[in-house]
Amino acid sequence: MILAQNAKGTITALDLFSGSIDKLNATAGKLGLQNRIKGLVGSMDNLPFQNDKFDLIWSEGAIANIGFEKGLNYWKGFLKKGGYIAVTYESWFTGERPAEIEKFWVDAVPEIGTIGHNISIMQKTGYTLVAAFTLSENCWLDNYFIPQKTRQEEFLQKYAGNKTVETFIAYMKREAELYIKYKQYYGYVFYIGKKL
Ligand SMILES: C[S@@+](CC[C@H](N)C(=O)[O-])C[C@H]1O[C@@H](n2cnc3c(N)ncnc32)[C@H](O)[C@@H]1O
Repeated sequence: MILAQNAKGTITALDLFSGSIDKLNATAGKLGLQNRIKGLVGSMDNLPFQNDKFDLIWSEGAIANIGFEKGLNYWKGFLKKGGYIAVTYESWFTGERPAEIEKFWVDAVPEIGTIGHNISIMQKTGYTLVAAFTLSENCWLDNYFIPQKTRQEEFLQKYAGNKTVETFIAYMKREAELYIKYKQYYGYVFYIGKKL
């Protein structure tokens, strides 16, 4: 919605889950943006688009689902020459970090790397780097971990006694605790590239 309100052109939005896409299409309708935003259900590693179609591909917090290098390589085919890619991706801020946080993130995102490493992947896969910058802490705290607390309690109550839900929420709480403890070592970084 923010992209549509700040840029001209039409937007195709894609996610694996139909519930999210239904919500997105409904919000676009409420804001009078239904002619400029079209939500599709699909997988980011099997896109139903023509080559050289898009001016911009924008993906926040999602490329790790198929891998940073694989995603950059595959999505490049759908960009026009000179088109832009803008992705956020979990990244290490330092060359070394404590074993506890290293293990947590390597288990979650095995190919997680430093900012320098990720920039080199972007260059290797056929983009010039336009910008790389870290998202501020409040993106994680004010917009994610803090509002999540109430939702977690609601979810636990809704599925009281469900072990899968309890394990899932315990994992999310651990992620938040580790962020507070180790946030100087990692975070989301925006990588913006231009297709050569
Ligand atoms: C961490 S969320 C980020 C969502 C949103 N971009 C944001 O910043 O709030 C990751 C999203 O990727 C979607 N996703 C995961 N695997 C996917 C796939 N293979 N194809 C398309 N979407 C996928 C999930 O459904 C989820 O909406």
